[in-house]
Amino acid sequence: MKMMLKISQIANKDLRAGHQIYNYYIINSFSNFEEKKVSYNNFMIKCNNIKKKKLPYLIAKIENKVVGLAYLDNFREKSGYRFAFENTIYVHNDYLNKGIGFKLLKQLITLSKNNKEIKKIVAVISSIESVGSIKVHKKLGFKNCGKLKKIGFKKGKWIDTILMQKDL
Ligand SMILES: CC(C)(COP(=O)(O)OP(=O)(O)OC[C@H]1O[C@@H](n2cnc3c(N)ncnc32)[C@H](O)[C@@H]1OP(=O)(O)O)[C@@H](O)C(=O)NCCC(=O)NCCS
Repeated sequence: MKMMLKISQIANKDLRAGHQIYNYYIINSFSNFEEKKVSYNNFMIKCNNIKKKKLPYLIAKIENKVVGLAYLDNFREKSGYRFAFENTIYVHNDYLNKGIGFKLLKQLITLSKNNKEIKKIVAVISSIESVGSIKVHKKLGFKNCGKLKKIGFKKGKWIDTILMQKDL
């Protein structure tokens, strides 16, 4: 049976499920350099801040179940970076490799193009188990810009990050 995927701006009722997906990857992967789960309150505050800044925060659903999230936030706070944004994308682990990440990122880029303040999108990708993420970003026009060597430390491992950038 074909899955009906729906992508929309996040609503408050989707936050709990989004929070669970986010924390799953903190605990079970190297894709997020947090080492402890983030609280629901902090997750919600961050989401509200992104919405206040009128940046896209998307959720993907299949039959009303949240199966992924993607958003932009400032790349860095210093004002000279004001046209640069970092993207975040997570797909529920039961729904990987079904095209959801690609569709979320594609929609994020489409919405970003409507906002003249967004001129650069940067992906900061952990070097561990990153084949899927690199592929999705590359397919959508992100270019590899280099690597920060052993910049992160998690679960007793030093981890590189790969930087990819898309100019809008
Ligand atoms: C990275 C991620 C967002 C990609 O989303 P996804 O829905 O799993 O990927 P898609 O199904 O859209 O795949 C797009 C392409 O990447 C490929 N791909 C996806 N995961 C892959 C993997 N683990 N290994 C190899 N190729 C992979 C797909 O085959 C597809 O290629 P194709 O179009 O040539 O067939 C998702 O796997 C994820 O959330 N991973 C864990 C967290 C993470 O790494 N987030 C990114 C942080 S920067």
